[in-house]
Amino acid sequence: MNLREKALQLIDQYIQNQNLKKHLLATENLMRHLAKKYDEDEEIWALAGLLHDLDWEITKETPEKHPLIAVEILTKEGFPQEVIEAIRKHNHLQGLIPETKLEKALYCCEEITGLIVAVALVMPNKKLSEVTVERILNKFKEPSFAKGVNREIILKADEMLGLKLEELAEIALKAMQEISEELGL
Ligand SMILES: [Fe+2]
Repeated sequence: MNLREKALQLIDQYIQNQNLKKHLLATENLMRHLAKKYDEDEEIWALAGLLHDLDWEITKETPEKHPLIAVEILTKEGFPQEVIEAIRKHNHLQGLIPETKLEKALYCCEEITGLIVAVALVMPNKKLSEVTVERILNKFKEPSFAKGVNREIILKADEMLGLKLEELAEIALKAMQEISEELGL
């Protein structure tokens, strides 16, 4: 079994919520595209995206433990250390400082997938194919829209990775459109 298959098995075991599974798939493909952009290991980056919220449902009542339970599970399962470290540092509430490019990318970039889903859902046919970068940027500026999406963290991509919001939106939209069928959007 390769690591992606093992990851999908763990997701089936620990996650019931279909929207959370879709968020993980979206983040997986976004991270794959970002790895390509930075000439980094696509499989490693994709795995970090795919598994980053593995313990979300188990830590619902104890959010301070997110993602520490996932870190425990993934360590036991033998996932690569760099994947585990990126996951450990992705929850900004933990106050850990992302250091490697992979850690920074996961930290800043995963939240934008939630914004893009929200934008798709207000399009006439609720499809990702109807979404444009311009529309994402406009909705980004509207604080009352998809309020749960932390804009401040997303904007850190510029200082941490030199990645402008517009380019991040473009990469994320493309990554999500590629798997629109799996995302049901
Ligand atoms: Fe997430």
